[in-house]
Amino acid sequence: MEHEEILKILKETLSEKRYAHTLGVADTSEKLAIAYDFDQKKAYLAGLLHDCGKYLSREDSINLLKDRGIELSSYEMGNPQLLHAKTGEILAREKFKVNDGEILSAIRYHTTGHPKMTLLEEIVFIADYIEPGRDKAPNLDKLRKLAYRDKDLCMHYILKDTLEYLKNRNIAIDPATQMTYDYYNVHHGEKMESKEKIKIIYEALSAKKSFDIKVIDIEEISSIADYFVIASVSNENQMLAAIDEVDEKVGKATGESPKSEGQKNSGWYLLDYGDVVVHLFREEDREFYDLEHIWSDGKEVEI
Ligand SMILES: [Fe+2]
Ligand SMILES: [Fe+2]
Repeated sequence: MEHEEILKILKETLSEKRYAHTLGVADTSEKLAIAYDFDQKKAYLAGLLHDCGKYLSREDSINLLKDRGIELSSYEMGNPQLLHAKTGEILAREKFKVNDGEILSAIRYHTTGHPKMTLLEEIVFIADYIEPGRDKAPNLDKLRKLAYRDKDLCMHYILKDTLEYLKNRNIAIDPATQMTYDYYNVHHGEKMESKEKIKIIYEALSAKKSFDIKVIDIEEISSIADYFVIASVSNENQMLAAIDEVDEKVGKATGESPKSEGQKNSGWYLLDYGDVVVHLFREEDREFYDLEHIWSDGKEVEI
């Protein structure tokens, strides 16, 4: 179905406020798609249809879902405002003739999310929360910026704020939302752990006179690791001291011991912690290998 036709139907069926919100979500989904290199048209369409189930009454929603053999949890029965995600998926498919599974599941999960969401599901979920018409949620200014920089962290904060809002008002929490939060919390938690580790590494290196220490975030561009820490030493003694200090301090804090590569007396030594890889170079070798240039697509992290 053409966008114009969809817009016409939505305008006729949704309330004025809901229709404005819908346009805001479609627009924001499109912008997020650009930021995360996703199909803009698909994101726009998913945003446009995410609330298309909203115009059905509670009774009509339950009947529609029953008729299609879709089971409802007791939480959903008690909170009919949540039904529109499932009815929306049905309407998008049957009425608006969408058969793209990615779009349909983005509509289906836009209220509760689920662990390990797809990129499009995350885009619509975030857009629903931050679109320009929203003004009640806390931290919106922060989240509107964060959304384009770190979507996982943004998901974490949206879910956290949502749960807090529900708790403060004594509104029962959908177990599905809680599960989504738990997943993103762990994921974000892992990131925080990497950053803690980097701090310890940075301090250990500085204490042993390593210099020109750089941290590069390579998570988006490589599966080797999440971060590279690159540092220079002036001589073999400094190299040995730095290796021992990092090994000891990280081991003490996390219990991890690194996989190592390279000879301790060579110009390049590597301590691999899985998420963080430390590269120690003698000055001249660092220039020669020019790792920073090779990984220049990564983001440099301020310590
Ligand atoms: Fe919704
Ligand atoms: Fe919405």
